[in-house]
Amino acid sequence: MDIEAIKSKADEVIKAVDSVILGYDAEVKLLLTCLLANGHVLLEGVPGVAKTTLIRALAKLLGLYQYRRELNGVVFRGFSRIQFTPDLMPSDITGSLIFNPSNRAFEPKLGPIFSYIVLADEINRAVPRTQSALLQAMQEREVTIGDRTYPLELRDKGKFFFVLATQNPVEQEATYPLPEAQLDRFLMRIIVEYPPTLEVEKNIYRLHMDRLTEPFEDLTRVADPKWVIESQEAIARCVRVGEDILEYVTMLVRNTRPEIFEPAASYFELGASPRAGIALIRAAKAYAALRGSEEVEIVDIDSVLFPVLNHRLIPNFEKLVEIESKGGRFLARYRLLREGLKYIRESI
Ligand SMILES: Nc1ncnc2c1ncn2[C@@H]1O[C@H](COP(=O)(O)OP(=O)(O)O)[C@@H](O)[C@H]1O
Ligand SMILES: [Mg+2]
Repeated sequence: MDIEAIKSKADEVIKAVDSVILGYDAEVKLLLTCLLANGHVLLEGVPGVAKTTLIRALAKLLGLYQYRRELNGVVFRGFSRIQFTPDLMPSDITGSLIFNPSNRAFEPKLGPIFSYIVLADEINRAVPRTQSALLQAMQEREVTIGDRTYPLELRDKGKFFFVLATQNPVEQEATYPLPEAQLDRFLMRIIVEYPPTLEVEKNIYRLHMDRLTEPFEDLTRVADPKWVIESQEAIARCVRVGEDILEYVTMLVRNTRPEIFEPAASYFELGASPRAGIALIRAAKAYAALRGSEEVEIVDIDSVLFPVLNHRLIPNFEKLVEIESKGGRFLARYRLLREGLKYIRESI
């Protein structure tokens, strides 16, 4: 698989998603970037902005919507949606041992984590213990039930493992916000805002006006899991990061740290870690491939900078309160982080 072939197939996927989810071209491209960089995604936005639909559309386009495949005696589903609620248990995600009275033995019942694409919907509504079960599986790409450990990713068999979680940023009763240390497990946090213009919003209503089913249901497969695995590998192997890009990324990451670059303190309480820098490069490589390039450029780094770093930085509290006093609570947070990263970029 060469980079040109990855780009043309990715363009087909993006175009198909854009035909049923209007106004989110940039977000869709970032989503695909994460998939091809083999990283998980957190989608943040208020209810009703098509977060869930976006993920379903992607599953459909990869031929995974009602797909099942047995690998090493384990049946994997193409796509599973897990609605997170306060009473969801860790075993509702991973699975558990259940007693079979006919042969008087415990047998594993595998949970919905045994899928190619897992949609963890409204992740902040489950208790921390349940969230951890998912985050641990994401990190380790395996899960243990009883005394057996099962891999969730089988690259040689074309099985990838992609978790998308959604979260509503407006704090409600009985929600458990993910702590920063855990947010770090997501390659990107993609913010899904309201439709960008009046015209786009009107087109959304037009699209739905004369039908009873969801437009994404009409989509058909354009790629498959093997394409995902091969693209991930080709990107990791072929897309190059030059010395000047490496220097740029390192400066960016270091300059978010108030201990190192004092002016950063007016935006951030806590800066980015080396893990964040690694993520930035990995995401930028996939982003470059989506441009059809085998060489990471500054534009690739800049395009993924906000989505890769925004959930890993702790904003300066006083500055946040100041911005909040002028407008919406969660919008203030995004605005401060955006401003801070813009400042860091310009400082180089
Ligand atoms: N930008 C958009 N383009 C097309 N349909 C949209 C858009 N925004 C919302 N919708 C429609 O609105 C409904 C809500 O979407 P949903 O995916 O359930 O939202 P969320 O998961 O963000 O709460 C769906 O019927 C979806 O198709
Ligand atoms: Mg939803």
